[in-house]
Amino acid sequence: MVIVMGPEATADDLAAIVSVVEAAGVEAFVSKGVSRTIVGLVGDVTQLDAAALRGMGGVRDVMRVSTPYKLVSRENHPERSTVHVGGVPIGPGTVTLIAGPCAVETHQQTLAAARMAQAAGAVLLRGGAFKPRTSPYAFQGLGEQGLRILADVRAETGLPIVTEVLDVRDVELVASYADMLQIGTRNMQNFALLQAVGAAGRPVMLKRGMTATIEEWLMAAEYIAQRGNLDIVLCERGVRTFETATRNTLDVSAVPVAQRLSHLPVVVDPSHSGGHRDLVLPLTRAAVAAGADGVIIDVHPQPEQALVDGPQALVEADLGALAQIMTDFPPLLGKTAA
Ligand code: E4P
Ligand code: PEP
Repeated sequence: MVIVMGPEATADDLAAIVSVVEAAGVEAFVSKGVSRTIVGLVGDVTQLDAAALRGMGGVRDVMRVSTPYKLVSRENHPERSTVHVGGVPIGPGTVTLIAGPCAVETHQQTLAAARMAQAAGAVLLRGGAFKPRTSPYAFQGLGEQGLRILADVRAETGLPIVTEVLDVRDVELVASYADMLQIGTRNMQNFALLQAVGAAGRPVMLKRGMTATIEEWLMAAEYIAQRGNLDIVLCERGVRTFETATRNTLDVSAVPVAQRLSHLPVVVDPSHSGGHRDLVLPLTRAAVAAGADGVIIDVHPQPEQALVDGPQALVEADLGALAQIMTDFPPLLGKTAA
């Protein structure tokens, strides 16, 4: 961390800074220039509050020179990680297709969607039993009955399950069925939930909050990692912008940026970002071309009857094109489909 003092800073201002820093067990190296003074901090600065330092007399700026997230940072772990979900890899050498219904509605619908997913090359099944809905009157998911359906469909298809958990009180239950726990965009900064999934003994897919910066996203991942779970996959799912033609704006640049900053795998959700069926395949191509380690895609046998997000679900007729992307793109990037 580096503290820049303004030209108006007095000797007392500087002494106050040095005393706060040293009280936290950090060394302060003062370098006096002609117009400003720089204080370089060496040691474990995690206990120092940058905002509080910024508010002290004479301080012009406080800059971090190392990341505030440690366990998920690439600084301390240069090799990119691979996370295994029910034996399926998500990581740098592969492109993993995760697909399935947005929500589990019936056994028949979930099985049909899982078969569609497999036809396109999916190796993991997505499907929500607990749904985070904007309206309290909208379908909230089947709960445990939905988890049982997912477990039955896993037995029938062999596809490991990725499913969302919304509430700390349900973590144990969902983890008892799921191969991977999903934290949705709306819960990215639900810190109690992050800590609970960090202790649940299952890999976690952490979706980016729709208004979160990449640093906030990585700090959220750090909450999970801090509980001893480094099996985390980051998922870019679009962010809120002024644009209304799409449901959210897919931040493709988040893929290489997050991969540069963190060793964790990064996947993309083209369904929830675009929000329209006709955008899903172009956004999938963009995501894979940008280096995404996988994609998570909604499919539905009858999207016009879907209880959640029908307009963004791929249909039977789209599966060939999706399969084609999974065959053609990975080799261009020196990868294989998982
Ligand atoms: C689906 O996965 C989410 O629950 C859904 O996108 C939430 O959006 P809505 O409740 O605004 O439809
Ligand atoms: C989902 O994938 O089911 C979901 C709710 O996505 P998001 O949290 O990205 O909206």
